[in-house]
Amino acid sequence: MPIFPEYVIKEVAEKNDIIEVVSQTVALKKAGSSYIGLCPFHNEKTPSFSVSPRRGIFKCFGCGEGGDVIGFVMKSEGISFHEAVKKLAQRANVQLPETKSYDDDLAEKKKEKRELLYMINKDAAAFFYKNIKTSKDAIDYFKKRELDGNIVKYFWLGYAPESWTSLFDYLKEKGYTEGDIYDAGLIRRHESGRYYDYFRNRVMFTIFDVNGNVIGFGGRVLDDSKPKYLNSPDSNIFSKGKNLYSLNVARHSKKRTVILCEGYMDAIALIKSGYENTVATLGTAIGEHQAKILEKYFDEVVICYDSDQAGRNATNRAIAVLRQSGNLKVSVLDLKAKKDPDEYIKTFGKARFEAMFQNRKPDMEYLIEYFGESYNLKKSDDIVAYISEMVDYLKLIKSSVELDVYANIISEKTGVQLSSIISQTGLRKSGATTSVIGGNADVINVVNKGTVANDSKQYLEKTRALLLSTLFYDRKLCEKYLSMLDESMFENSLHIMIFRYIKECMENGEKVSNISLMAKFNTNDEINAVSGILALDVQSDDTDKAVKDYIKQIKEKGGAEKAYELLKNNKITLEQFNEMIKNKG
Ligand code: UTP
Ligand code: MN
Repeated sequence: MPIFPEYVIKEVAEKNDIIEVVSQTVALKKAGSSYIGLCPFHNEKTPSFSVSPRRGIFKCFGCGEGGDVIGFVMKSEGISFHEAVKKLAQRANVQLPETKSYDDDLAEKKKEKRELLYMINKDAAAFFYKNIKTSKDAIDYFKKRELDGNIVKYFWLGYAPESWTSLFDYLKEKGYTEGDIYDAGLIRRHESGRYYDYFRNRVMFTIFDVNGNVIGFGGRVLDDSKPKYLNSPDSNIFSKGKNLYSLNVARHSKKRTVILCEGYMDAIALIKSGYENTVATLGTAIGEHQAKILEKYFDEVVICYDSDQAGRNATNRAIAVLRQSGNLKVSVLDLKAKKDPDEYIKTFGKARFEAMFQNRKPDMEYLIEYFGESYNLKKSDDIVAYISEMVDYLKLIKSSVELDVYANIISEKTGVQLSSIISQTGLRKSGATTSVIGGNADVINVVNKGTVANDSKQYLEKTRALLLSTLFYDRKLCEKYLSMLDESMFENSLHIMIFRYIKECMENGEKVSNISLMAKFNTNDEINAVSGILALDVQSDDTDKAVKDYIKQIKEKGGAEKAYELLKNNKITLEQFNEMIKNKG
């Protein structure tokens, strides 16, 4: 969270030559267009640490550390972003806007407090885990629900014992104060002033944030008593509306499609069955904030809620929320039978679930059928009500072609004229219908099972990275070639984010910058990986030709690879395969 405005941060970065700054601690030698030296972040005898003055990026090809000039100061001096900016501003005589030192202090303190609360929750998770061993009830429960030792470990499942203060005592023993344990959401305060454990005699599901910090828990009773689930109260670190269960797992999936379900057990069952791209809400309806988060990592959300009436109502609400968010394709996996995904897989098996997954319906198609079943479309007043219900959803469509497609289906189903359905939506007049969805999610979604030789895959990934880094630093080439590219040519989520960023800048007439791009990433791993991409340099004098070649290779090889995978997984016929191969190149 930058406290200084972005323009100031950019100025600070621009006025501090990365070679000069790095040279203060590392002896650099010129090598071609870059400088190399011994990496300050790991022990080495031959230099694998490289700095590019033109790009303003450093990268160690030994240990992987990388970043821009601010990142270098942060990492080499072990200081915060804020402090590194201050330090570099001083070095280059850049005037920083006044910020009250009280605020700085408070921000640091808040951060410290959050770290502390993560630690307390992590210790609590370890405590719950440890407790399974001594509880026969817990062991029996896990068995009954087919949760074996590996799953328990992977998901940090646990057991809160039937006791008023065992967690409280355990955490105090570790040295935490009552106040901090309370703020972590793990104890409650009785009127008498005494504290007692929030979770008692419950099976515990550890909830992580997107970066893998432990932020809270869901606790389930072992029998049929109520409430079935108790969740950590919202706190400084935990908010039900801003987090999603197992997003820390799903975000690393190569798939661009995410399955959204209602319960912890559903997410676990799906992940166990090979759908690592699954998340669950935390006992509340999905909200705008969560939709935005999903949009960051995925192209398509497959809603897979319980098939009871509550689940169906929630499905309709979720469609509206996800559609409103903008850039997500939304579809529905309707389990039909009165089951949730967990029970469905346990009863019918993975293969049948996969068939259902493949048969998922675009959200609008689902709604047309769903409401179609609740009205008698032979009766005129029902037709009116049906169309009015559907129009509320049609209004959420952003592409005029898509609007036409679904309005047409409704028109045929009801006999009402297309034009009058469209005019009901009020969309055409405002002219607000432009196509927003790019890429072919079905194709992107294909699982990479290593059917294509690994090195050819690596080569292709490297080509994609080279293409991005070349375009990033060459605006002319970017102007010339960007329109030939689209998101479906990339698979890696970092590549996609860089591509989107470049595109956004071009569309808004802004200059791309390391600083603004880096600000989009949260973790050190991501920043290191992005630096690795940006540090790649074309080994050719004719960069124009090189870019043309990269694009050609990605289109041909990438297309063939995808087609081959589709064929392997029986998703297309041989004829369709041949057709796809023919069209590439
Ligand atoms: P479900 O009642 O569908 O439970 O609630 P489930 O996930 O299928 O659990 P099992 O299979 O009975 O163990 C779905 C989700 O709603 C939230 C929880 O997050 C749960 O996973 N919930 C449910 C609560 O927060 N409180 C409750 O009392 C019940
Ligand atoms: Mn269930």
